[in-house]
Amino acid sequence: MLRSIDSINYQGKRVLIRCDFDIPVRLDGSIEDTNRIDAALKTIKKIIADDASEILLIAHRGKPDGIDPHLTFVLVAEYLAYVLGLTQSVQKIKNFLIDLPAYKIGNHIYLLENIRFDEREEENNANLVSAFTSAYDSFVFEAFATAHRAHASTVGVSRHMESVAGYKVLDEVKHLELLRDDPQKPCVYIIGGAKIEDKLPIIENVSQKVNKILVGGAVANTFLKSRGEHVKGSLVEDDLLKKARYILEKFGEKIQLPVDHIWNDGAIVDIGPETVKNFEHYLDGAQTVFWNGCLGKTDDIRFEIGTVALGKYLARLKDATRVVAGGDTVGVLDNHNLAKKMSFISTGGGAALEFLAGKELPALKALGY
Ligand code: 3PG
Repeated sequence: MLRSIDSINYQGKRVLIRCDFDIPVRLDGSIEDTNRIDAALKTIKKIIADDASEILLIAHRGKPDGIDPHLTFVLVAEYLAYVLGLTQSVQKIKNFLIDLPAYKIGNHIYLLENIRFDEREEENNANLVSAFTSAYDSFVFEAFATAHRAHASTVGVSRHMESVAGYKVLDEVKHLELLRDDPQKPCVYIIGGAKIEDKLPIIENVSQKVNKILVGGAVANTFLKSRGEHVKGSLVEDDLLKKARYILEKFGEKIQLPVDHIWNDGAIVDIGPETVKNFEHYLDGAQTVFWNGCLGKTDDIRFEIGTVALGKYLARLKDATRVVAGGDTVGVLDNHNLAKKMSFISTGGGAALEFLAGKELPALKALGY
Protein backbone atom coordinates (compact mmCIF):
# COMPACT_ATOMS: atom_id res chain seq x y z
CA MET A 1 0.00 0.00 0.00
CA LEU A 2 1.30 3.42 -0.94
CA ARG A 3 1.81 5.68 2.07
CA SER A 4 -0.53 8.64 1.63
CA ILE A 5 -0.09 12.36 2.20
CA ASP A 6 -3.40 12.33 4.05
CA SER A 7 -1.76 10.52 6.95
CA ILE A 8 0.44 13.52 7.83
CA ASN A 9 -0.01 16.98 9.30
CA TYR A 10 2.84 19.19 8.13
CA GLN A 11 2.52 21.92 10.74
CA GLY A 12 5.98 23.33 11.53
CA LYS A 13 7.75 20.84 9.26
CA ARG A 14 10.33 21.54 6.57
CA VAL A 15 8.95 19.71 3.55
CA LEU A 16 10.59 18.55 0.34
CA ILE A 17 8.20 17.93 -2.57
CA ARG A 18 9.41 16.16 -5.73
CA CYS A 19 7.25 17.39 -8.61
CA ASP A 20 7.42 16.75 -12.35
CA PHE A 21 7.71 20.07 -14.16
CA ASP A 22 9.04 18.52 -17.38
CA ILE A 23 6.54 20.56 -19.35
CA PRO A 24 6.10 20.93 -23.09
CA VAL A 25 7.36 24.27 -24.42
CA ARG A 26 6.77 26.02 -27.73
CA LEU A 27 9.58 26.80 -30.18
CA ASP A 28 9.75 30.34 -28.69
CA GLY A 29 10.40 28.84 -25.21
CA SER A 30 7.00 29.69 -23.69
CA ILE A 31 5.05 27.11 -21.66
CA GLU A 32 2.75 25.14 -23.98
CA ASP A 33 0.79 23.35 -21.31
CA THR A 34 0.64 23.60 -17.52
CA ASN A 35 -1.02 20.25 -16.74
CA ARG A 36 1.98 18.78 -14.96
CA ILE A 37 2.37 21.89 -12.80
CA ASP A 38 -1.35 22.03 -12.03
CA ALA A 39 -1.27 18.35 -11.06
CA ALA A 40 0.92 19.17 -8.05
CA LEU A 41 -1.16 22.08 -6.75
CA LYS A 42 -3.53 20.13 -4.49
CA THR A 43 -0.56 18.65 -2.65
CA ILE A 44 1.32 21.95 -2.40
CA LYS A 45 -1.81 23.73 -1.14
CA LYS A 46 -2.45 21.11 1.55
CA ILE A 47 1.11 21.49 2.84
CA ILE A 48 0.79 25.30 2.85
CA ALA A 49 -2.57 25.02 4.64
CA ASP A 50 -1.06 22.70 7.26
CA ASP A 51 1.37 25.56 8.00
CA ALA A 52 4.65 23.91 7.06
CA SER A 53 7.62 26.04 8.10
CA GLU A 54 9.44 25.71 4.76
CA ILE A 55 8.68 24.06 1.42
CA LEU A 56 11.24 23.17 -1.24
CA LEU A 57 9.95 22.02 -4.63
CA ILE A 58 12.36 19.89 -6.65
CA ALA A 59 11.82 18.92 -10.28
CA HIS A 60 13.64 18.38 -13.57
CA ARG A 61 13.24 19.39 -17.20
CA GLY A 62 14.68 17.51 -20.16
CA LYS A 63 17.95 15.62 -20.14
CA PRO A 64 20.52 18.43 -19.84
CA ASP A 65 24.23 17.85 -19.91
CA GLY A 66 25.20 20.44 -17.27
CA ILE A 67 23.53 23.84 -17.05
CA ASP A 68 21.33 24.65 -20.03
CA PRO A 69 19.68 28.09 -20.16
CA HIS A 70 16.85 26.65 -22.30
CA LEU A 71 15.82 24.29 -19.50
CA THR A 72 15.55 26.59 -16.48
CA PHE A 73 12.54 27.02 -14.22
CA VAL A 74 12.19 30.80 -14.54
CA LEU A 75 8.76 30.59 -16.16
CA VAL A 76 7.61 27.72 -13.95
CA ALA A 77 8.42 29.82 -10.85
CA GLU A 78 6.42 32.77 -12.22
CA TYR A 79 3.49 30.50 -13.04
CA LEU A 80 3.55 28.87 -9.60
CA ALA A 81 3.58 32.24 -7.85
CA TYR A 82 0.54 33.23 -9.93
CA VAL A 83 -1.54 30.07 -9.36
CA LEU A 84 -0.70 29.92 -5.67
CA GLY A 85 -1.87 33.52 -5.33
CA LEU A 86 1.52 34.69 -4.01
CA THR A 87 1.84 38.34 -4.79
CA GLN A 88 5.51 39.01 -3.94
CA SER A 89 7.75 38.98 -6.99
CA VAL A 90 9.80 35.84 -7.56
CA GLN A 91 13.35 36.23 -6.24
CA LYS A 92 16.32 34.26 -7.51
CA ILE A 93 18.67 33.00 -4.80
CA LYS A 94 22.19 31.81 -5.67
CA ASN A 95 23.58 28.51 -4.35
CA PHE A 96 20.53 27.39 -2.47
CA LEU A 97 21.38 24.33 -0.35
CA ILE A 98 23.49 22.84 -3.16
CA ASP A 99 25.39 24.53 -5.96
CA LEU A 100 22.19 25.55 -7.79
CA PRO A 101 19.98 28.63 -7.61
CA ALA A 102 16.43 28.52 -6.31
CA TYR A 103 13.41 30.73 -6.93
CA LYS A 104 11.77 32.12 -3.79
CA ILE A 105 8.08 32.23 -4.68
CA GLY A 106 6.54 33.08 -1.32
CA ASN A 107 7.74 33.76 2.20
CA HIS A 108 8.74 30.18 2.81
CA ILE A 109 8.34 28.41 -0.56
CA TYR A 110 11.30 27.74 -2.85
CA LEU A 111 11.64 26.06 -6.23
CA LEU A 112 15.10 24.62 -6.81
CA GLU A 113 16.51 25.13 -10.33
CA ASN A 114 16.33 22.10 -12.67
CA ILE A 115 17.79 19.34 -10.49
CA ARG A 116 19.30 17.59 -13.52
CA PHE A 117 21.73 20.49 -13.87
CA ASP A 118 23.49 18.66 -11.02
CA GLU A 119 24.89 15.42 -12.43
CA ARG A 120 24.64 13.79 -9.00
CA GLU A 121 20.84 13.62 -9.34
CA GLU A 122 20.76 10.83 -11.91
CA GLU A 123 23.58 8.98 -10.09
CA ASN A 124 21.45 8.93 -6.92
CA ASN A 125 24.54 10.33 -5.23
CA ALA A 126 24.70 9.94 -1.44
CA ASN A 127 26.09 13.47 -0.83
CA LEU A 128 23.26 15.05 -2.77
CA VAL A 129 20.73 12.93 -0.90
CA SER A 130 22.15 13.94 2.44
CA ALA A 131 22.14 17.66 1.49
CA PHE A 132 18.37 17.30 1.23
CA THR A 133 17.67 14.93 4.09
CA SER A 134 19.72 16.94 6.58
CA ALA A 135 17.83 20.17 5.81
CA TYR A 136 14.26 18.81 5.61
CA ASP A 137 11.98 16.70 7.81
CA SER A 138 9.53 15.17 5.40
CA PHE A 139 9.31 14.13 1.73
CA VAL A 140 6.31 14.04 -0.60
CA PHE A 141 6.61 12.32 -3.97
CA GLU A 142 4.30 14.09 -6.40
CA ALA A 143 6.10 13.24 -9.66
CA PHE A 144 4.43 10.13 -11.02
CA ALA A 145 6.07 10.78 -14.40
CA THR A 146 9.49 10.13 -12.84
CA ALA A 147 8.47 7.11 -10.77
CA HIS A 148 10.48 4.84 -13.11
CA ARG A 149 13.72 6.76 -12.43
CA ALA A 150 15.85 5.76 -9.41
CA HIS A 151 17.40 9.19 -8.89
CA ALA A 152 18.46 11.12 -5.76
CA SER A 153 15.24 13.15 -5.58
CA THR A 154 12.91 10.27 -6.48
CA VAL A 155 14.14 7.33 -4.39
CA GLY A 156 17.35 8.50 -2.70
CA VAL A 157 15.71 10.82 -0.20
CA SER A 158 12.66 8.68 0.54
CA ARG A 159 14.79 5.97 2.12
CA HIS A 160 16.05 8.40 4.77
CA MET A 161 13.05 10.44 5.88
CA GLU A 162 9.30 10.35 6.46
CA SER A 163 7.98 9.90 2.89
CA VAL A 164 4.55 9.66 1.31
CA ALA A 165 2.84 9.87 -2.08
CA GLY A 166 1.06 13.09 -3.05
CA TYR A 167 -2.57 13.30 -4.19
CA LYS A 168 -1.92 13.05 -7.93
CA VAL A 169 0.37 10.06 -7.52
CA LEU A 170 -2.34 8.30 -5.48
CA ASP A 171 -4.89 9.11 -8.17
CA GLU A 172 -2.61 7.90 -10.98
CA VAL A 173 -2.05 4.57 -9.27
CA LYS A 174 -5.78 4.08 -8.62
CA HIS A 175 -6.72 4.70 -12.26
CA LEU A 176 -3.80 2.93 -13.92
CA GLU A 177 -4.22 -0.16 -11.75
CA LEU A 178 -7.65 -0.68 -13.32
CA LEU A 179 -6.17 -0.40 -16.77
CA ARG A 180 -3.26 -2.68 -15.94
CA ASP A 181 -5.24 -5.41 -14.19
CA ASP A 182 -8.62 -5.48 -15.87
CA PRO A 183 -8.78 -3.59 -19.18
CA GLN A 184 -12.03 -4.07 -21.08
CA LYS A 185 -11.38 -5.60 -24.52
CA PRO A 186 -10.86 -4.69 -27.29
CA CYS A 187 -7.98 -2.73 -25.84
CA VAL A 188 -5.96 -0.50 -28.16
CA TYR A 189 -2.73 1.33 -27.35
CA ILE A 190 -1.48 4.34 -29.31
CA ILE A 191 2.25 4.87 -28.90
CA GLY A 192 4.17 7.75 -30.42
CA GLY A 193 6.71 10.39 -29.49
CA ALA A 194 10.45 9.89 -29.13
CA LYS A 195 12.22 8.11 -26.18
CA ILE A 196 12.38 5.05 -28.43
CA GLU A 197 14.75 3.25 -26.09
CA ASP A 198 12.14 3.39 -23.30
CA LYS A 199 9.19 2.51 -25.50
CA LEU A 200 10.37 -0.48 -27.53
CA PRO A 201 10.62 -2.89 -24.58
CA ILE A 202 7.20 -1.76 -23.39
CA ILE A 203 5.67 -2.33 -26.80
CA GLU A 204 7.11 -5.83 -26.75
CA ASN A 205 5.72 -6.42 -23.29
CA VAL A 206 2.18 -5.08 -23.81
CA SER A 207 1.82 -6.66 -27.26
CA GLN A 208 0.89 -9.84 -25.49
CA LYS A 209 -1.97 -8.24 -23.58
CA VAL A 210 -3.63 -5.79 -25.96
CA ASN A 211 -5.56 -6.19 -29.19
CA LYS A 212 -3.78 -3.56 -31.26
CA ILE A 213 -0.92 -1.07 -30.95
CA LEU A 214 -1.05 1.92 -33.26
CA VAL A 215 2.42 3.38 -33.59
CA GLY A 216 3.41 6.87 -34.80
CA GLY A 217 6.10 9.48 -34.16
CA ALA A 218 9.79 8.64 -34.00
CA VAL A 219 9.01 5.19 -32.59
CA ALA A 220 7.27 4.34 -35.88
CA ASN A 221 10.25 5.62 -37.90
CA THR A 222 12.49 3.09 -36.16
CA PHE A 223 10.08 0.25 -36.94
CA LEU A 224 9.70 1.41 -40.56
CA LYS A 225 13.46 1.56 -41.09
CA SER A 226 13.89 -1.83 -39.45
CA ARG A 227 11.77 -3.39 -42.18
CA GLY A 228 13.73 -1.65 -44.90
CA GLU A 229 11.64 1.46 -45.62
CA HIS A 230 13.44 4.68 -46.55
CA VAL A 231 12.87 7.21 -43.79
CA LYS A 232 15.70 9.53 -44.99
CA GLY A 233 16.62 12.09 -42.31
CA SER A 234 13.79 11.16 -39.91
CA LEU A 235 14.49 10.68 -36.22
CA VAL A 236 15.45 7.01 -35.76
CA GLU A 237 17.28 5.05 -33.06
CA ASP A 238 19.70 3.07 -35.23
CA ASP A 239 21.00 1.02 -32.29
CA LEU A 240 17.52 -0.40 -31.81
CA LEU A 241 16.79 -1.50 -35.39
CA LYS A 242 17.50 -5.14 -34.61
CA LYS A 243 15.20 -5.07 -31.59
CA ALA A 244 12.48 -3.32 -33.63
CA ARG A 245 12.73 -5.94 -36.38
CA TYR A 246 12.47 -8.72 -33.79
CA ILE A 247 9.32 -7.17 -32.26
CA LEU A 248 7.72 -6.80 -35.69
CA GLU A 249 8.50 -10.42 -36.54
CA LYS A 250 7.02 -11.63 -33.26
CA PHE A 251 3.99 -9.33 -32.85
CA GLY A 252 3.62 -7.89 -36.37
CA GLU A 253 -0.11 -8.55 -36.64
CA LYS A 254 -0.78 -6.53 -33.47
CA ILE A 255 1.34 -3.53 -34.49
CA GLN A 256 -0.06 -1.04 -36.94
CA LEU A 257 2.46 1.37 -38.49
CA PRO A 258 1.74 4.53 -40.50
CA VAL A 259 0.96 3.92 -44.16
CA ASP A 260 1.61 7.50 -45.29
CA HIS A 261 3.56 10.43 -43.92
CA ILE A 262 3.94 14.18 -43.92
CA TRP A 263 7.52 15.14 -44.80
CA ASN A 264 9.47 18.32 -44.07
CA ASP A 265 13.12 18.95 -44.95
CA GLY A 266 13.62 15.29 -45.82
CA ALA A 267 12.22 13.95 -42.55
CA ILE A 268 8.90 12.42 -41.45
CA VAL A 269 7.15 14.98 -39.25
CA ASP A 270 3.57 13.67 -38.98
CA ILE A 271 1.32 10.78 -39.94
CA GLY A 272 -0.61 11.22 -43.21
CA PRO A 273 -4.39 11.25 -43.82
CA GLU A 274 -4.58 7.56 -44.83
CA THR A 275 -2.92 6.61 -41.55
CA VAL A 276 -5.39 8.73 -39.60
CA LYS A 277 -8.27 6.84 -41.28
CA ASN A 278 -6.58 3.53 -40.69
CA PHE A 279 -5.98 4.27 -36.99
CA GLU A 280 -9.60 5.45 -36.59
CA HIS A 281 -10.74 2.14 -38.04
CA TYR A 282 -8.86 0.24 -35.32
CA LEU A 283 -10.14 2.54 -32.58
CA ASP A 284 -13.73 2.09 -33.62
CA GLY A 285 -15.38 -0.31 -31.16
CA ALA A 286 -12.47 -0.29 -28.70
CA GLN A 287 -13.52 -0.50 -25.06
CA THR A 288 -10.19 0.68 -23.67
CA VAL A 289 -7.73 3.07 -25.29
CA PHE A 290 -4.39 4.09 -23.80
CA TRP A 291 -2.36 6.75 -25.58
CA ASN A 292 1.16 8.01 -24.94
CA GLY A 293 3.25 9.99 -27.38
CA CYS A 294 2.47 12.45 -30.16
CA LEU A 295 2.19 11.13 -33.70
CA GLY A 296 4.13 14.00 -35.22
CA LYS A 297 6.76 16.59 -34.34
CA THR A 298 4.22 18.66 -32.45
CA ASP A 299 6.57 21.32 -31.06
CA ASP A 300 5.78 22.88 -34.47
CA ILE A 301 2.00 23.32 -34.75
CA ARG A 302 2.11 22.58 -38.50
CA PHE A 303 2.86 18.97 -37.59
CA GLU A 304 0.21 18.29 -34.97
CA ILE A 305 -2.56 17.56 -37.47
CA GLY A 306 -2.47 13.76 -37.06
CA THR A 307 -2.34 13.95 -33.26
CA VAL A 308 -5.24 16.42 -33.11
CA ALA A 309 -7.32 14.38 -35.60
CA LEU A 310 -7.01 11.26 -33.45
CA GLY A 311 -7.70 13.31 -30.31
CA LYS A 312 -10.96 14.53 -31.87
CA TYR A 313 -11.91 11.00 -32.85
CA LEU A 314 -11.21 9.71 -29.34
CA ALA A 315 -13.24 12.54 -27.81
CA ARG A 316 -16.27 11.08 -29.59
CA LEU A 317 -15.71 7.48 -28.43
CA LYS A 318 -17.65 8.09 -25.25
CA ASP A 319 -18.34 4.42 -24.50
CA ALA A 320 -14.65 3.58 -24.22
CA THR A 321 -12.30 4.22 -21.31
CA ARG A 322 -9.76 6.62 -22.83
CA VAL A 323 -6.57 7.37 -20.94
CA VAL A 324 -4.04 9.82 -22.33
CA ALA A 325 -0.59 10.03 -20.76
CA GLY A 326 2.53 12.15 -20.97
CA GLY A 327 3.39 15.84 -21.02
CA ASP A 328 3.53 16.41 -24.78
CA THR A 329 0.47 14.39 -25.78
CA VAL A 330 -1.70 15.89 -23.06
CA GLY A 331 -0.32 19.34 -23.93
CA VAL A 332 -1.44 19.15 -27.56
CA LEU A 333 -4.88 17.77 -26.67
CA ASP A 334 -5.35 20.35 -23.95
CA ASN A 335 -4.58 23.19 -26.35
CA HIS A 336 -7.43 21.93 -28.53
CA ASN A 337 -9.81 21.52 -25.61
CA LEU A 338 -9.73 17.75 -26.02
CA ALA A 339 -7.92 16.60 -22.86
CA LYS A 340 -10.94 17.17 -20.65
CA LYS A 341 -13.02 14.96 -22.93
CA MET A 342 -10.91 11.90 -22.04
CA SER A 343 -11.68 9.54 -19.15
CA PHE A 344 -8.37 10.11 -17.36
CA ILE A 345 -5.27 12.22 -17.93
CA SER A 346 -2.05 10.70 -16.65
CA THR A 347 0.98 12.91 -16.09
CA GLY A 348 3.27 9.94 -16.70
CA GLY A 349 4.69 9.04 -20.09
CA GLY A 350 7.32 6.33 -19.74
CA ALA A 351 6.31 5.81 -16.11
CA ALA A 352 2.68 5.09 -17.06
CA LEU A 353 3.83 2.71 -19.79
CA GLU A 354 6.08 0.81 -17.41
CA PHE A 355 3.36 0.67 -14.78
CA LEU A 356 0.89 -0.76 -17.30
CA ALA A 357 3.46 -3.28 -18.45
CA GLY A 358 3.54 -4.57 -14.86
CA LYS A 359 7.04 -3.33 -14.08
CA GLU A 360 8.08 -2.26 -10.60
CA LEU A 361 8.55 1.52 -10.40
CA PRO A 362 11.37 2.31 -7.93
CA ALA A 363 9.92 5.56 -6.59
CA LEU A 364 6.59 3.87 -5.78
CA LYS A 365 8.32 0.87 -4.26
CA ALA A 366 10.21 3.22 -1.92
CA LEU A 367 6.82 4.49 -0.69
CA GLY A 368 5.53 1.05 0.20
CA TYR A 369 3.88 0.02 -3.11
C1 3PG B 1 8.65 12.47 -18.66
O1 3PG B 1 8.67 13.50 -19.37
O2 3PG B 1 8.11 11.41 -19.05
C2 3PG B 1 9.23 12.52 -17.30
O3 3PG B 1 9.48 13.82 -16.90
C3 3PG B 1 10.48 11.69 -17.22
O4 3PG B 1 11.46 12.25 -18.03
P1 3PG B 1 12.79 11.43 -18.42
O5 3PG B 1 12.40 10.39 -19.44
O6 3PG B 1 13.70 12.49 -18.99
O7 3PG B 1 13.33 10.80 -17.19
